[in-house]
Amino acid sequence: MIINGKEISLKVKDEVKQEVERLNEHGKRVPTLAVILVGRNPASMTYVKNKEIGCRYVGIGSIKIEMSEQTTQEELLKQIYTLNADNTVDGILVQLPLPAHIDEKTVIEAIDPKKDVDGFHPVNIANLFLGKEGLLPCTPYGMMVMLESIGYDLEGKEVVVVGRSNIVGKPVALLALSKSATVTIAHSRTKNLKEVCQKADVLIAAVGVAKMFDDSYIKAGAVVLDVGMNRDENNKLCGDVDFEKCKNKAQAITPVPGGVGPMTIAMLLHNTLKAYKLRENIE
Ligand code: GUN
Repeated sequence: MIINGKEISLKVKDEVKQEVERLNEHGKRVPTLAVILVGRNPASMTYVKNKEIGCRYVGIGSIKIEMSEQTTQEELLKQIYTLNADNTVDGILVQLPLPAHIDEKTVIEAIDPKKDVDGFHPVNIANLFLGKEGLLPCTPYGMMVMLESIGYDLEGKEVVVVGRSNIVGKPVALLALSKSATVTIAHSRTKNLKEVCQKADVLIAAVGVAKMFDDSYIKAGAVVLDVGMNRDENNKLCGDVDFEKCKNKAQAITPVPGGVGPMTIAMLLHNTLKAYKLRENIE
């Protein structure tokens, strides 16, 4: 089975859309997301554009703040403080990566955790760690929704996450653990990586190396989630998994593009609505 991220993300977006419509009918303020883009990184510009399109689709208000590459850290922090204090703004997202002269950690920590729709703030990471209510990082959250939507129960399953980033590897491992999976976090220094992967009921590939995982890495009947977004030798988009080689051996697998990617924006919109509800004390 091919797990269709486009379809599942559309379902998530339509749920958000319906809730926003309901808020409108009750004369409530619309949830609003502010996105800050520093510089003109082409990939970042595309992501930001797609976020705007997503907001428009579900009826969430969007504010785009474009700042020059030369923006100082102080100026960026000031902008964040302004948005923190603005009661009409529910979500704040600072597009990464930032120019080298700006410290990412300092910037993330400046965002009000209640508006941190990326789920990157230490308070939200701590909430995830402790299993407390909070805003979850979008890509890992999206992967959990994908598994749920195919009716896959993680309890007692062997999950192998390859990659230990703060954005994907570590949080998705915590989420899988919270669903009672047995979790292994592997990475570039792992010995016998192939053997480690072969025991996985669910393999999560998040390393950023084009087509690194072929069918020799996966157990027959495994579920394979591919977070990679790379270019192959023909400059075509591809994942960390060699899709063609693995698709018949896996029970279910996400393609690239059209797999995990579309889930990220859907969960961002979901998180913006959630931040709104938390701030407005709804539900
Ligand atoms: N750059 C690449 N992915 C992301 C993301 O999920 N959030 C932010 N803020 N920047 C990114």
